[in-house]
Amino acid sequence: MISITPRMLRKNEQMPYGLLLLADEEMQAIERYIHQSDIYVIEAGDKIVGVCAVYTIDEHTAEIKAIAVDEAYQNQGIGKLMLKDAEDKAREKGFNELIIGTPTIAWKQISIYQKAGFELYEVKKDFFINYYTQQIFEDSVQLTDMVMLRKKLRNPS
Ligand code: COA
Repeated sequence: MISITPRMLRKNEQMPYGLLLLADEEMQAIERYIHQSDIYVIEAGDKIVGVCAVYTIDEHTAEIKAIAVDEAYQNQGIGKLMLKDAEDKAREKGFNELIIGTPTIAWKQISIYQKAGFELYEVKKDFFINYYTQQIFEDSVQLTDMVMLRKKLRNPS
């Protein structure tokens, strides 16, 4: 059975690197944020099938650095559930906005985030060239730029 509420990964548990590598191609890139992030996981039985890593940028802003669902469990609503949970937790912690970045060619991801209320606000040109040691290809297209999306978590007072 799939757990409905994501839980925090315990300190003594193994980091689900296999899942994280679905979201971020390079271990070196993952290592830059993962140990400073809150790691939320979702389980099916005793298997972790979803992960979401949330990093504090500053007192106002949290960033989802990685979100991934085991391929066998995708398109069943788990990604949306983890997105909503990350949003709720960030709001509870007092952040004003939650941001997320994804390759400009990642149409599925962009559409999931937009449906969840995230809005595009910036394109980081050549991000995947400058911050990764190797060229990354998706569907034979080289990743270059990253689009940033944000969701406001509270109304301005
Ligand atoms: N194009 C557009 N939308 C698509 C799509 C496609 N090719 N395939 C599925 N969708 C839609 C579904 O219809 C659904 O929306 P709906 O509920 O409004 O119909 C939504 O995308 C899927 O939602 P959900 O089932 O909650 O997503 P998921 O559990 O598959 O998780 C990801 C989404 C992105 C986390 C998952 O696909 C994943 O792990 N991908 C690989 C890692 C990755 O790219 N992570 C993000 C890095 S920024």
